[in-house]
Amino acid sequence: MQIDILTLFPEMFSGVFGASILGRAQASGLLTVRTHNIRDYTDNKHRKTDDYPFGGGAGMVMMAQPIFDCMEAVQGQNRVHRILLTPRGKLLSTKRAKELAELDRIILVCGHYEGVDERVNAIIDEELSIGDYVLTGGELPAMVLVDCVARFVPGVLGSEDSAADESHSDGLLEYPQYTRPAVFRGMEVPEVLQNGHHAKIQKWRHEQALLKTKQNRPVLLGRFGK
Ligand code: ADE
Repeated sequence: MQIDILTLFPEMFSGVFGASILGRAQASGLLTVRTHNIRDYTDNKHRKTDDYPFGGGAGMVMMAQPIFDCMEAVQGQNRVHRILLTPRGKLLSTKRAKELAELDRIILVCGHYEGVDERVNAIIDEELSIGDYVLTGGELPAMVLVDCVARFVPGVLGSEDSAADESHSDGLLEYPQYTRPAVFRGMEVPEVLQNGHHAKIQKWRHEQALLKTKQNRPVLLGRFGK
């Protein structure tokens, strides 16, 4: 899968995409992430990318021109799915991440300042948000999206880090996990996990997942009819 990211701050991405599972996925050719500096596409001599909002108000708005030119250069003649990261977008979900992972190529646009000139939507297929809070720009949300989508690209996760049995995969939050030692600072791993009885372990894990979901995200229980 190829992901192109249009941003004013390409330097923010290198550490995140070079390390760990995303780094390995890129090294093995399963994933290609490229960043493109929107500022390189300005057509004014000061390389300005933002301007005052029509109608007044606080803050600056990202200009349409550099984003259009950057998009045209990056996408070429191909029809590619284009996503704008914005707090006004639809909420990113596991379901959507899985669907996006089936595409060969996506392009992400990171907004900044007070927002992006609305006319940029003419070259956008989907607006996505990573949560009901506002960040200073779309770069961190783009990293979150890439990480979340990459996990569903076949081969990116080894079987040891499977995406099948985890929070949100079945509509519930994940059950508690433990590793050795069996007793740590007086706290013991639940007996049922130590005795190895598969059916009992499954039952315990399901109960714990329900409990955790009820405590932390009760709305999820209603949504999945649990
Ligand atoms: N840009 C700023 N805040 C954001 C959010 N919550 N999701 C996506 N893009 C954003």
